[in-house]
Amino acid sequence: MLAIIGGSGLSKLSSLDVERREVVRTPYGEPSGALLFGRISGQEVVFLARHGYGHTIPPHKVNYRANMWALKNAGVDGVISVASVGGIRADMLPGALVAPDQIIDYTSGREATYFDGETKVVHVDFTEPYCPILRARLLAAAKAANQAMIDGAVYAATQGPRLESAAEINRLERDGADIVGMTGMPEAVLARELELPYAAIGVVANYAAGRGDSAHGITMDVIEQTLHQAMGQVKALLQHFFAV
Ligand code: HPA
Repeated sequence: MLAIIGGSGLSKLSSLDVERREVVRTPYGEPSGALLFGRISGQEVVFLARHGYGHTIPPHKVNYRANMWALKNAGVDGVISVASVGGIRADMLPGALVAPDQIIDYTSGREATYFDGETKVVHVDFTEPYCPILRARLLAAAKAANQAMIDGAVYAATQGPRLESAAEINRLERDGADIVGMTGMPEAVLARELELPYAAIGVVANYAAGRGDSAHGITMDVIEQTLHQAMGQVKALLQHFFAV
């Protein structure tokens, strides 16, 4: 059974036939919401809205440890994250779907580990932050759905909740980042610590600050419109993903 964590624009998954919901308490506090158990293309999945079902939890306040612990506790053996991002690389146009393969963490002050030194010191390997098998399955599902998906990108995880300055985006680009979002970390590393294979569908919501039509600013209206359109494609992709 796989879990889907829905980000901005995907806090409801209309293609999921919800069979039951479960409120989970964890040693790390409350997850973003109840876990929804249901089916996509006949396969059992668990869905969790990263920002809460009313989209009230900002990226820096998401209880990533509780979320991932709750999913592990529910018995999932992998996690698909859906996350909206800003496009930095020239081909990361609004509306594009991306399967990132690397990540750079610029977040700060988030609870980013289960290994807080209470028992033993653990350093997980994070050379490849995203599960190559899940990534390949996502790309195959995109192909089957006739949906373009960019294979490989470096995801920059910023602290938010503000968007970046144009100079910050230039720096991220010099660092090698292709897309930028606010929730990829510590989610990806917590999944690794729990030994949960993890992959992400990045949905480009806007040109990053200073790029394309964001040269003079980014409005939430534009982001929401783009996400609304792209989420139809994400749902179709997931239906193919679970149909095999
Ligand atoms: N920056 C950071 N996070 C984002 C963006 C962005 O431009 N768009 C969607 N999530």
